[in-house]
Amino acid sequence: MENKEISQAVIGRLPRYFRYLGELKDEGIERISSQELSDIMQVTASQIRQDFNNFGGFGQQGYGYKVEYLYEEIGKILGLDKTHNLIIIGAGNLGQALANYMNFERRGFLFKGIFDNNPALFGKKIRNMEIKPMEEMEAFVKENGIDIAVLTIPKGSAVEVAGKLVENGIRGIWNFAHVDLPVPAEIQVENVHLSDSLMKLAYNINRYEQNEL
Ligand code: NAI
Repeated sequence: MENKEISQAVIGRLPRYFRYLGELKDEGIERISSQELSDIMQVTASQIRQDFNNFGGFGQQGYGYKVEYLYEEIGKILGLDKTHNLIIIGAGNLGQALANYMNFERRGFLFKGIFDNNPALFGKKIRNMEIKPMEEMEAFVKENGIDIAVLTIPKGSAVEVAGKLVENGIRGIWNFAHVDLPVPAEIQVENVHLSDSLMKLAYNINRYEQNEL
């Protein structure tokens, strides 16, 4: 497959395609037209065709798309054909909730450890894994080939912790702390702000109500 630059907007839509195709595959559906996919996903068929054209199309005229093939190819584009070793830093409400969500493992994200700096939490088990002190974090990252860290700590300490993670070979940070992390360009950071999604919802409720008036 050609390795050209794909817009972040397209990349942003790929996980949703991947999810729907996974469900179709699980239902035993072997092929689907862009129109059928459009009906299920509430995205226009032309948007789907345009998105898939970024990767050479995947479809055949009059035949539609092979569900399993498309699912696997999108998985490869997203890097989901590889496994990632992941640790969580911050074993509070959010960190524990993420650790307890088993489904990431199905996608190849292997949860290897969880760390905190509160001694009251050390040794407490989450999914059979003990919460470890931060002092053990750096050696653990190196020894276990950890490539992704999930930051669920307050913003005040996130920048310093991110620096230590980078020094020890982390490749990507899934950042829930409400602060931008000044990391080198080769380190990938995905900032997650659940409130952004909630604000978008509020905006859409507002817009709908105004249109109704
Ligand atoms: P929490 O207070 O339950 O957990 C935070 C944990 O981080 C605590 O266990 C604490 O001991 C630990 N911690 C603090 N400093 C640390 C350090 N330097 N190293 C290691 N561990 C450290 O808070 P909660 O609700 O789990 O939220 C965690 C953070 O995520 C908060 O800063 C909050 O603002 C943020 N957050 C972000 C969301 C988002 O959508 N981006 C949604 C919810 C929370």
